[in-house]
Amino acid sequence: MVIAVDGPAASGKGTIARAIAAHFQLPHMDTGALYRAAALNLWRWGGDPNSEFEAVRACEDIGSNLEDPELRSEPVSRIASKISAYPAVREALLERQKAFAAQPGGAVLDGRDIGTVIAPDATAKLFVTATEEVRAQRRVRELLARGMPAHFDEVLCDLKARDARDTNRDSAPLAQAPGSIVLDTSNLSVEEAVAQAIALVRARLERL
Ligand code: DC
Repeated sequence: MVIAVDGPAASGKGTIARAIAAHFQLPHMDTGALYRAAALNLWRWGGDPNSEFEAVRACEDIGSNLEDPELRSEPVSRIASKISAYPAVREALLERQKAFAAQPGGAVLDGRDIGTVIAPDATAKLFVTATEEVRAQRRVRELLARGMPAHFDEVLCDLKARDARDTNRDSAPLAQAPGSIVLDTSNLSVEEAVAQAIALVRARLERL
């Protein structure tokens, strides 16, 4: 059983994916963290995000970065969005994700291209979304809670730029996979969103 959870930044897909994984007792991978970990390498080295070559090198040895609190910072988010558009970066991180999805016991993965590229045959595919304003507000709260500076207008502007980059890139853009179920979380509490997501997945499983 593979469950694909895709959607734009701060749509709630990470929270939902973790809750689904806990509910169905499946391992979970936050694939955005891989791109962020590579971005963090590049940032720390002072590497050039405009260089596809340097970005690919930054995909090596990302393991120790995966729990780093800087992973969620705005500069790292911006660099992650930028380097994730490079086909060679996506290629460098592809096998790790495909192998995770192919575990015999099943898995839950969240990202942008899980239902389209990483696990096109997933048992259930969710596309989690919310309005730009709601997502920006969530990101502001998340950053403030981590003690990081955050201003709504700046966060909204960054979020729009990131959405545009994630959606308009040629290589595995953010897109609703065929057969995916859309869950708009704009007007839902975390608990409601999680409950709806689990109900949608369960309904899909019952129809198999
Ligand atoms: O989900 P996130 O915000 O942590 O993702 C960080 C960046 O990585 C985001 O700008 C898009 C990119 N990403 C991607 O291109 N493909 C994925 N499967 C996951 C994330």
